[in-house]
Amino acid sequence: MAVEAWHPLGGRGHQKELLSDPVLTEIAQKHGKSVAQVILRWDLQRVVVVIPGSSNPEHMKENISIFDFALSPEEMKRIEALNRNEKHDWY
Ligand SMILES: NC(=O)c1ccc[n+]([C@@H]2O[C@H](COP(=O)([O-])OP(=O)(O)OC[C@H]3O[C@@H](n4cnc5c(N)ncnc54)[C@H](OP(=O)(O)O)[C@@H]3O)[C@@H](O)[C@H]2O)c1
Repeated sequence: MAVEAWHPLGGRGHQKELLSDPVLTEIAQKHGKSVAQVILRWDLQRVVVVIPGSSNPEHMKENISIFDFALSPEEMKRIEALNRNEKHDWY
């Protein structure tokens, strides 16, 4: 069974909060990557299927360029600790 991320970047119109998170921003700066790339890499390292939506060619290139860095176990835990047990209800 494969687990899939729905709205991996927060969904259209809802990505601002995720992409400006201070912990993710700090980790992204350390790796010289964007916050979107850190989020997608975090999913990938947890073996979650991730298909970000984008109509921007620059974002598409950015989103596929996540195979040249790795998050450390400590960084993975810091990101996991951001969990707020929220259920999103715009569906
Ligand atoms: N299987 C299902 O039932 C199911 C359920 C939910 C979603 N999905 C699918 O999952 C995919 C993604 O969902 P989604 O598009 O709603 O949500 P999403 O991937 O979380 O967010 C897409 C939004 O993020 C922006 N974005 C993408 N890459 C970015 C980057 N590198 N930096 C900054 N912003 C970035 C996009 O803007 P730009 O266009 O400007 O890049 C768009 O506004 C879609 O194909 C959707 O259909 C499937």
